[in-house]
Amino acid sequence: MILNTELEYKGNLFPSKIISYKKNLDTLAFTTDNNVVLHVTVVRDSVLRFRYTTTGIFEKDFSYAITKYASRGYNVLEVTEDEDKYIITTAKLICHISKADTRSSIFDAKDKSLICEDELGFHWEESYEFGGDVVKMTKTSHPSEAYYGLGDKPVDNNLKGKRFENWVTDSYAFTKDTDPIYKAIPFYIGLHSKKAYGVFFDNTFKTNFDFCHERRNITSFWAQGGEMNYYFIYGPDMSEVVANYTDLTGKPHEMPALWTLGYHQCKWSYYPESNVKEIAAKFRKLKIPCDAIYLDIDYMEGFRCFTWDKEYFPDPKKMVKELADDGFKTIVIIDPGIKIDPGYPVFKEGLEKDYFCKRADGPYMKGKVWPGECYFPDFTNPEVREWWSDLFKELVEDIGVKGVWNDMNEPAVMDVPGKTFPDDVRHNYDGNRCSHRKAHNIYGMQMARATYQGLKKFSYPKRPFVITRAAYSGTQRYTSTWTGDNVASWEHLIIANVQAQRMCMSGYSFVGSDIGGFAEQPNGELYARWIQLGVFHPFCRTHSSGDHGDQEPWAFGTNVTDVVRKFIELRYQLLPYLYTAFWRYANEGIPILKSLVLYDQNDPHTHYRNDEFIFGEKILVCPINEPNAKGRRMYIPRGNWYNFWTDEVVEGGQELWVDADFDSMPIFVKEGAIIPKYPVQQYVGEKTIDEVSLDVYYKLGKETSQVFEDAHDGYDYIKGRYSVRIFNLLGVETELYIQQHKSGKYIAPFETFKINLHGLPFKISKITIDKEDFIFDDVKVNDSNSFVVNKDFTEIQMM
Ligand code: GLC
Repeated sequence: MILNTELEYKGNLFPSKIISYKKNLDTLAFTTDNNVVLHVTVVRDSVLRFRYTTTGIFEKDFSYAITKYASRGYNVLEVTEDEDKYIITTAKLICHISKADTRSSIFDAKDKSLICEDELGFHWEESYEFGGDVVKMTKTSHPSEAYYGLGDKPVDNNLKGKRFENWVTDSYAFTKDTDPIYKAIPFYIGLHSKKAYGVFFDNTFKTNFDFCHERRNITSFWAQGGEMNYYFIYGPDMSEVVANYTDLTGKPHEMPALWTLGYHQCKWSYYPESNVKEIAAKFRKLKIPCDAIYLDIDYMEGFRCFTWDKEYFPDPKKMVKELADDGFKTIVIIDPGIKIDPGYPVFKEGLEKDYFCKRADGPYMKGKVWPGECYFPDFTNPEVREWWSDLFKELVEDIGVKGVWNDMNEPAVMDVPGKTFPDDVRHNYDGNRCSHRKAHNIYGMQMARATYQGLKKFSYPKRPFVITRAAYSGTQRYTSTWTGDNVASWEHLIIANVQAQRMCMSGYSFVGSDIGGFAEQPNGELYARWIQLGVFHPFCRTHSSGDHGDQEPWAFGTNVTDVVRKFIELRYQLLPYLYTAFWRYANEGIPILKSLVLYDQNDPHTHYRNDEFIFGEKILVCPINEPNAKGRRMYIPRGNWYNFWTDEVVEGGQELWVDADFDSMPIFVKEGAIIPKYPVQQYVGEKTIDEVSLDVYYKLGKETSQVFEDAHDGYDYIKGRYSVRIFNLLGVETELYIQQHKSGKYIAPFETFKINLHGLPFKISKITIDKEDFIFDDVKVNDSNSFVVNKDFTEIQMM
């Protein structure tokens, strides 16, 4: 007989005292009196994984985020104990686990300073409604601590004082502080006492983070289900934290083809064919470099994926070829919703093979998107991903499409509360069957992954190109991304700047915004200022919704066109520099854009900066954020910097006014830098490059620069056909030396470097190249201090 029907309210539950400890290779297992088990896995000397279960038994260990290529292994692992705690020691960290309640404290192994400490630590609430637990963690925050990361949050760089939710959401015309938006990247960085560490909470349920918002000295994170499962990643350099997080969740599986780093033009939508060609022709006529043109949803037959509207595009193959002949790569959009239409082969096959998502009790998950009522493939099923990847055969292999744009993959559903699937939808989750509560945040990632597999298969031996809107940690392995449906406003230019930096800090460097704004229309000034910023973003594309007027570089009058051309040309000149930065990202996990705090965390002035950032290793950029500006104040990080336009040297560590009229923006180059440049091309590969410029910025002292080269596409570089040139510069009062070390097997087609010297404090009277005196006339040092040398020189000495 049941008399009481009230839910028993237990509130927060906590681990009790540890009753047993076992070590199994790299994993230390602590079991408490109330059946909580904590596994601490030493992933690397600086990376510890914490995993808790409240039932004595763990779920199957499965993660979409962690890559199988993640580095593992440590130099030291020692476990000792005293009366109150276990002490885990690695080469980098010391971790105390309290015997009373499993709370942990983590110290720097070198100077024994406290880095991060549990407050309440792990606790949980039982969930009657869904079963399992709401899992929670609280940590003590240091008074001066700053917080960064979390993917695409449209807020100031430093997250302190704020609370966030991670639930991938279609967020048309989001504003500053809108939360959540398109991505779920549950990774943050803490910084205090000049030391940085990261926490990656690998849980795909809805997660929340609170950085001293609810309680002034407490940082906490929690999830609506799943396990308390997080990685603690130590620096102490922030760039190491980011590199280690990126190592765990993966670097891009391949370098992007160089053309993908060119300029892209997009609109909702260019159609019919004549319109697409007209746009393409105008780029060439006005000599504005451009590599890619996009077809938004209107190219399809009634928005059915993998079809063409034959009225607008009677012969897509021919059009794509003609565009390609003129240097344009065609990129098409593909959304997840498959129109319910028994006469449509993709729908029919999906239905027959049982590939669509279903509700808990069996009906299909039906939702409205652009094509009307749709079903949605369950991309969390590996078989569905394989099927999906094969659907790209015709588009890529036959028609010649070079890239695919995945959109609406949050998944977005129109006209329903929550703008997405209901919670009860079932997913395969690679054999770990679950509800949408768990699969929601990775749905878009798995779609992009399947698309990537298709592109990779059918583009081979060329490199694939995919762009996605929704993402979870690890999506960077497969695709590039953009920040979604922003607005043509000055505030959004500011947001785009911070979002790009934040994404880079969160392991996802191949990112850009809809330049000029997606919703509403920019005026020419805003568009030009946004292009100036956008050319310094790893992904560079103008996109807008068509109902708000034109947004091509020429849509705002000649003055604007000229500025836009000038900056896109600059991007094309800097391609070898950007490509090198990309290589460092793909190879070492070093973010392509560095917020000032990431560049110099020991300078507290950088902790709250938002606008200035480092592009690659050596170029400091700061966009103009407001109308009618003739310049702006900005913070110059420590060190000496050359004004890119005037060569004037400024000393960093201070805020300065920098002139930047409409056709300019604040750009600085670090002293001692050697910046490689290509000649301007209208598209990548237009010209055979027979000479590369090296802009050399004199420094009294030493500096190292690098240049990565390969064939710009294809996979030969994986077999070693790439090269890295390391330039060591040494400047003394009246001499300048440059040494070059080249490694790798790639032989670049160009023969010579044109050396352009900046800021040389002396007049050159003699040059030796590889220890041989050069007859001065031979080297042709002209008035502008430039001369030409063989690309394989090993040492140049100027005096
Ligand atoms: C979404 C996308 C946008 C696209 C539009 C139509 O709003 O974010 O980029 O143009 O759908 O496909």
